[in-house]
Amino acid sequence: MKTYLVTGAAGFIGANYIKYLLKNYEDVKIVVLDLLTYAGNLGTIAKDIDNDRCIFHRGDIGDRALVDSLFAEYKFDVVINFAAESHVDRSIENPQLFLETNILGTQNMLDAARKAWVTGRDEQGYPTWRDGVRYHQVSTDEVYGSLGAEGYFTEDTPLCPHSPYSASKTSADLFVMAYHDTFHMPVTITRCSNNYGPYHFPEKLIPLIIKNILEGKKLPVYGDGSNVRDWLYVEDHCKAIEMVVRKGRVGQVYNVGGHNEKTNIDIVRLTIATIHRLMTEQPEYRKVLKKVVMGEDGLPTIDWINDELITFVKDRLGHDQRYAIDPTKIKEELGWYPETCFEVGIVKTIEWYLNNQAWVEEVTSGDYQHYYERMYAGR
Ligand code: NAD
Ligand code: TYD
Repeated sequence: MKTYLVTGAAGFIGANYIKYLLKNYEDVKIVVLDLLTYAGNLGTIAKDIDNDRCIFHRGDIGDRALVDSLFAEYKFDVVINFAAESHVDRSIENPQLFLETNILGTQNMLDAARKAWVTGRDEQGYPTWRDGVRYHQVSTDEVYGSLGAEGYFTEDTPLCPHSPYSASKTSADLFVMAYHDTFHMPVTITRCSNNYGPYHFPEKLIPLIIKNILEGKKLPVYGDGSNVRDWLYVEDHCKAIEMVVRKGRVGQVYNVGGHNEKTNIDIVRLTIATIHRLMTEQPEYRKVLKKVVMGEDGLPTIDWINDELITFVKDRLGHDQRYAIDPTKIKEELGWYPETCFEVGIVKTIEWYLNNQAWVEEVTSGDYQHYYERMYAGR
């Protein structure tokens, strides 16, 4: 039995990850540390917290006294650091918060793990480490910057971040590698492309578009919609992380991506068409529409769910043009491959949102509306 400290698991990927672990592995006990910012929602993982195999603590990864006390109480074997400020648009508004959470928070976790796990020193003065411990950092392909029409990010692509978000994730990665090189800390890093799937906060492209369609609102596409992202179903990412934690080589970076490049405008058009199709084939889904115009057949109409909802808005500052991952290393070394193709994953995702509107209402009940009015006022 190993004990994992999983930070940020009330957010999108971390929540999917602990659900994946609890379903597929019996040899793991999980302690979650999450600050429950606007992006974290305890309800998302409420059913997973049983205080036996899965325990929850609210707190900041930057709070050294708290993190030290958790290490003392639970004797963690593995740390998986998902906790972060994760939205590029918010990082343009408030870069400092990203520096504090993503850089200082990560460095705090590294130091707490070092204090708890070092057992002594070798002849050269390097720390020696408790057997079987591992620090895993969940990073992003955005650290590599932006691609033109050709090529892929490999693990050797130079780091060249552009947004305050990606600059903060890059700095965190550099600290993780510095702790490996300087202290021989057993670390690994995964750099993944854009995830999609259940529990994705509706500020990111796909869940925002779904939400706006159901409300009959305009669908904001930045610039001309030609930017490309490489989409991966979230459970495939979770599987990759667990493979790297268990079998990945210490001190290594693994890129994770599914060869699923799509332009933003294609994603938006596909989402519109899929919602229209699902509501045609299964009219009972129309009950989740917030814009209700009754038709002569006694059902809410859906003819207005079409491309005319799209509105091109002012581009994001410093908007990266294209991300695309070369996942050869994780495929060849660890046998990872993405199981969910985009065509299947996007339908699963949209159906999840249609069936879980209560979750959307719960996570957007805070100052979400106020934030959006401010965000889009300038566009
Ligand atoms: P998210 O914004 O949905 O969730 C982040 C979680 O971290 C929330 O539960 C939040 O409450 C928590 N958190 C924030 N600050 C904290 C702090 N100081 N202390 C403790 N908890 C804190 O993010 P996500 O999309 O699930 O991303 C998770 C990780 O994966 C991030 O590190 C992100 O950079 C990385 N990543 C995301 C994607 C993607 O497509 N979403 C792709 C690649 C990598
Ligand atoms: P996002 O989901 O914010 O992820 P990231 O910026 O980390 O890739 O955005 C995905 C793409 O969609 C990105 O190119 C910006 C674009 N986008 C829009 O066009 N409209 C929107 O409302 C949002 C949120 C994003």
